Amino acid sequence: MSCFKVNHINKLKGSIWLPGAKNSVLPLLAATFLSEGVSVLHNCPMLSDVLISIKILEHLGCRCEVSGNTVTVHSEGCYGDDIPEYLMREMRSSIVFMGAVAAKSGTASMSLPGGCELGPRPIDLHLDAFERLGSEIECIGGKIICRMPNGAVGTEIHLSFPSVGATENIILATATGNGTTVITNAAREPEIADLCDFLKLCGAKIEGAGTDRITIIGVKKLKGAEYTVMPDRIVAATYLCATAACSGKVQLKGANPNHLLPIISTLKDTGCEIETTDSTVSISSSGKLEAFGSISTQPYPGFPTDAGPLAVALATVLFGTSIFIENIFDSRFKYIDELRRLGASIKTVGRVAIISGVKKLHSAEVVAMDLRGGAALVMAAMKAEGTSLVKNVHYIDRGYYKLEDGLNLLGADIIRID
Ligand code: EPZ
Repeated sequence: MSCFKVNHINKLKGSIWLPGAKNSVLPLLAATFLSEGVSVLHNCPMLSDVLISIKILEHLGCRCEVSGNTVTVHSEGCYGDDIPEYLMREMRSSIVFMGAVAAKSGTASMSLPGGCELGPRPIDLHLDAFERLGSEIECIGGKIICRMPNGAVGTEIHLSFPSVGATENIILATATGNGTTVITNAAREPEIADLCDFLKLCGAKIEGAGTDRITIIGVKKLKGAEYTVMPDRIVAATYLCATAACSGKVQLKGANPNHLLPIISTLKDTGCEIETTDSTVSISSSGKLEAFGSISTQPYPGFPTDAGPLAVALATVLFGTSIFIENIFDSRFKYIDELRRLGASIKTVGRVAIISGVKKLHSAEVVAMDLRGGAALVMAAMKAEGTSLVKNVHYIDRGYYKLEDGLNLLGADIIRID
């Protein structure tokens, strides 16, 4: 198990390129299976979840080549229909393969995705949607089998919650289905638009991506396409919150400021100066900032749940008291006990965290328990006096490719100890 040795720093300074978005490249890789041809995805972050997705594609019969941050997938004539347990267990979000595999191979079988560090990860919205599309779902012995031998039958599907994964799965299941499918109360996250832009390059007919009403007209076949993955908005939020907390001046390159509006607004409320162009976001912080009042996480375009831990870590060193409400996941506060070890003053009541800013954080040994909570601990450890240890770095590696290298480029002092 790796850990990070993190020394106190006084500021972050410099500029850094953002990587491709993890939460976009995963459904995009599932989409490459759908096509009958060769797809090339650029700007893929080489994260563990991406490497597992590539293993799933290879298990399904595809030939994959990785060169730098480019993944090439040959999926012509590939009709694999099962994802083995050992791969499903390694990656929670492999459920996003179900729609594409069932649509192309007629059947998809995979084990129930395990719970994860954010609490139970139900897939009822996915399975209800597949049944609405005419598929037969069977759950036996911890496995789910989705049979759709004649393809999806277009219909209207209203999601009771704008689930990102369920929206993606419906799009993947119906892009080559029969007839027209309309998703209402669809997720509006930018990663959905990224998926649909790629699928349209492959020949899909999709309207309304990025809105809460998406229309998919099934086509017979999709060809491969070449595409560049959008920048990772949560990695961007991580660097912005770290700079706000540690003070300094940082420019993010290859950014899309339109994906970051809630984070930018919150950081401006604390007193940071933020300037944007169409591809950069620059922040400067005195490090003496005011509490941001309150944040309540919401589906896009609200404040993203994934940036929550970073905002809470920042709030621990703001002047005043901040209120943070997590509305998306049941148990996303595990990192808060670890922040307390670093000297943070946080009270939690259910999904509400009340953070009283402190003058100083102090060094401690802390344990990452999920990817974003782990990044929040690194951020707080950089601010804490002395030298801290952040353990279970493998969680952080799921969402960030060599986070320590990026932060050290900006002036941090982090050593990875294997
Ligand atoms: C995606 O997860 C992201 N993961 C998550 O990012 C992100 O936090 C989440 O969307 C919300 O934005 C990927 O894209 C790989 P959901 P997903 O379906 O699709 C409940 C990160 O940090 N729900 O929108 O699983 C669910 O329990 C990760 O990068 C059901 O009840 O999110 C949760 O409370 C963490 N039934 C809420 O909806 C279902 O069938 C949001 O889930 C599906 C979901």
